[in-house]
Amino acid sequence: MSRTIIVSNRLPTKVQRTASVLSFTPSEGGLATGLGSIYKSDDNVWVGWPGLSIEGEDEQQHVVEQLHADSMRPVFLTDAEIKGFYEGFSNETLWPTFHYFSQYAVYDLTQWETYRAVNEKFCHAVLELAGPDDTIWVHDYQLLLLPQMLRKARPESSIGFFLHIPFPSYELLRVIPWSKELLEGMLGADLIGFHTFGYMRHFLSAVSHLLGATSQNGIVELGNRSVVVDSFPMGIDYEKYATTAASEEAAGHIRQYREALQEVRVILSIDRLDYTKGIAERLKAYDLLLQRHPEWRGKVTLLMVVVPSRDQVAQYQSLKEEIDELVGRINAAYSSITWTPIQYFYRSYPLEELSALYRLADVALVTPMRDGMNLVAKEFVASKEGQQGVLILSERAGAARELSDALIINPTDTIQLAEVMHEALTMPEEEQVQRMESMQALVRQYNVHHWVELFMNRLFYSKNKQLTLATA
Ligand code: G6P
Repeated sequence: MSRTIIVSNRLPTKVQRTASVLSFTPSEGGLATGLGSIYKSDDNVWVGWPGLSIEGEDEQQHVVEQLHADSMRPVFLTDAEIKGFYEGFSNETLWPTFHYFSQYAVYDLTQWETYRAVNEKFCHAVLELAGPDDTIWVHDYQLLLLPQMLRKARPESSIGFFLHIPFPSYELLRVIPWSKELLEGMLGADLIGFHTFGYMRHFLSAVSHLLGATSQNGIVELGNRSVVVDSFPMGIDYEKYATTAASEEAAGHIRQYREALQEVRVILSIDRLDYTKGIAERLKAYDLLLQRHPEWRGKVTLLMVVVPSRDQVAQYQSLKEEIDELVGRINAAYSSITWTPIQYFYRSYPLEELSALYRLADVALVTPMRDGMNLVAKEFVASKEGQQGVLILSERAGAARELSDALIINPTDTIQLAEVMHEALTMPEEEQVQRMESMQALVRQYNVHHWVELFMNRLFYSKNKQLTLATA
């Protein structure tokens, strides 16, 4: 029977070690939360890294067994691989460059070589598992070389690739010394998917400039084979978010939070700690709101959840310090005995508590500098079913292409953002409901199930068309 083998760097479950005991918790980030609820259907398997260096054989065996029961196959990475491949080339070269932060990017030959070696390691893990009829679906920037490696080993396999982050303009990509190899790696797939048409356009232009390959209507011709390139905006598990937010458990949390917050209005901000998310700019804009509209002092609170992420990478450590400092300064400047302007939480939350926060919030601030899609925006919309609420959304998040009923802002323009927060807090109820309902209709229809179906059907048809042409 044919299965789908999902491959991503991070598994949807992460293993953590506390005082030598291993625990298993859900992973953070768009990819894991987005696909996590559906991959278990049929006989599908998810191959990826469990998020921790596990070297002892007994421990590895324990992790294999635990994850196996949940249809996952771990790929173990050594400390040196975590440093060179994950913290290094993935998150110090590709992540900043693809998000237009090339001033943070490093170009290090050893890290590049480790990146290639770890992609090979993933390739072996998949080949051990995949039968000739299985479909292999590779995800994200950590595994850009994998489609081509798989193609060499299994020329007939059906291979899809999806990039969850932006694809940058060719001018940025070309700065990476290994940009050609990266493009060739991706082109090993039969189908390459992006969240937006803009990312797809950048990719096709890079392929033409750097590799001289021509394309027509999104089909790249490589001589002996062709690759289909298209945009597939990722959705969320709408029902899961709508139902959890309306559950008794969430209602219990909401009552508790409301009691503590009293009458104040709530602006919510939830992100992984990342410089692409615009967290510092958001804080500066909130400071401006309190300066320009002093009537909100004592009447609004910013609930800011920052989920720890990549804390071994230098840029993330200094961003943490900057955020701590800004929150401290704003709170010290405006707090009163009975009111705290910013309530700041540096940790992750289980779904029920997150849903309660979404439900409680009057306004959600999703203002990244760059973001492939941003599923938090969609989760907020789904959690607000039957309720009012306002979404403020950055024009540079992929989600802005779809959620045009949000208040769309330029995240660098802190004055505009402060004024839009004021507008959101004073928006008539009727307008809030109207905007929310139209976004809900869209997020409900184009949910994650729809996304998977669309991608898989397209992969099936592009592959079959090629096979027919090859045998004709
Ligand atoms: C983004 C990326 C994912 C990644 C996630 C969390 O959503 O697109 O590939 O897994 O961030 O980051 P981490 O480095 O913790 O896996």
